[in-house]
Amino acid sequence: MFKLDRKLIISTSVAAIALLGVGCVGGESAPTFSDGVNGNISIDGGVSYPTINGKSGNYFVNESHIGRAINNGRVPTDAEEAKWNTDVMAGYVYNEDPKALGLPEGEGSVEEGEALYEAQCVMCHGDFGSGGGGYPALSKGNAEDLQKTLTNNRYQDPQADGPTRVFGSYWPQASTMFWYIRDGMPHPKSDTLSVNQTYALTAYMLNINEMSIDGQEVDDEYVLDRAKFLKIKMPNQDGFEPNVRGSDSLPGVRAYYANPANFGAHKVKPAERCMTNCQETNATVVRIAGEGISQFIPPMSIVRDLPEKKAETINVKEVYSNACAMCHDSFLSPGSAEWAGYTAKGIDKVYANGINGTETGMPAKGGANLSDANFKLMVDYLISGK
Ligand code: HEC
Ligand code: HEC
Repeated sequence: MFKLDRKLIISTSVAAIALLGVGCVGGESAPTFSDGVNGNISIDGGVSYPTINGKSGNYFVNESHIGRAINNGRVPTDAEEAKWNTDVMAGYVYNEDPKALGLPEGEGSVEEGEALYEAQCVMCHGDFGSGGGGYPALSKGNAEDLQKTLTNNRYQDPQADGPTRVFGSYWPQASTMFWYIRDGMPHPKSDTLSVNQTYALTAYMLNINEMSIDGQEVDDEYVLDRAKFLKIKMPNQDGFEPNVRGSDSLPGVRAYYANPANFGAHKVKPAERCMTNCQETNATVVRIAGEGISQFIPPMSIVRDLPEKKAETINVKEVYSNACAMCHDSFLSPGSAEWAGYTAKGIDKVYANGINGTETGMPAKGGANLSDANFKLMVDYLISGK
């Protein structure tokens, strides 16, 4: 997950580093941010301070300590590395050698994807990826149309809908989707989906985002395979600045952020210290009327606002298999002895933890739309097995 997050937020982190760089212009002893390899500004937030004349920054380095053999860990084997090397890169978009991209051979249909989604994803991501209950939406309709809401929607009409950011409208490449699903989802049991299942789920994601591949609609009959995957063009592929591509991407990003005018910033007067009126005043600033961009769809919130349902009779076994089994079959299953470790703290605490969720993996009410009373019936069933 971490690797993925980094990939997604790279544009924000480069911006942050660029701002740091801008802030230093003209300072006498501007700190250097380097990637430790060739003295360039690091683009991913990693900062390293080189050791020069026995000092790193202001601090002396105990070189004899560093020189000592440190007996921690060992070099990973090729097999271990291969297992960890699971990223799927987007170079196919830029005509790079598809062999090097990490995208495995396989196939899966929209139909299979839908069945998998119903079994393993719907409890968090909602019907057809509608989101809700604090979990991200995976679709809000036609990706091509929604991509247009990302740019200048409010500039023309301040009352217009805010930007709609979901996979189809926002993500620049589909490779991230494949990788994210395979390595990160389903959230509580990541890394359990096969390659073909991942193809099927990705196909379903394209389907609910109403997308086409190479002019062909990804309809209910569609079967996605590697060759077709390599032809996916996301509507927002060119929506990010700078447009990072190919082997020139790193110097390209650096050059882009070295010039504040590229991202609408004022120019800072160079080569002199400055505390007031430091910015050149001739830059044009374009702002969105009113309060700027707000009301993102889906809202950028993680509030777990599951709607309360009126008490009604439930069939505990049925609710179990629809809403709890995917996680509880393997751990804390109905009637399992493992429950003793949980009930020791008192049943009210167990109810409360289940209702509010825990940071260690239990989503609030398991993501199920149940009244408190009915949820407690479910807990009783889980503990007793009857
Ligand atoms: C227990 C709840 C849960 C289940 C089950 C689950 N997810 Fe997720 N999913 C999440 C959460 C939480 C996030 C947000 C993670 C984050 O931002 O760090 C997420 C994020 C995602 C995203 C990225 C959305 C975005 O736009 O950022 C995708 C795609 C996704 N899930 C697909 C799936 C698929 C496919 C399945 C079924 C195989 C699945 N999820 C099952 C909780 C769940
Ligand atoms: C997405 C996976 C997931 C789903 C779905 C899920 N659970 Fe859980 N649940 C967990 C995990 C993981 C734990 C263990 C958490 C821990 O050890 O802190 C847990 C723990 C619990 C606990 C013990 C809480 C405590 O700390 O005392 C209860 C009660 C519970 N689940 C009830 C349910 C019920 C009822 C359902 C279905 C309506 C359900 N869960 C659905 C993952 C899930």
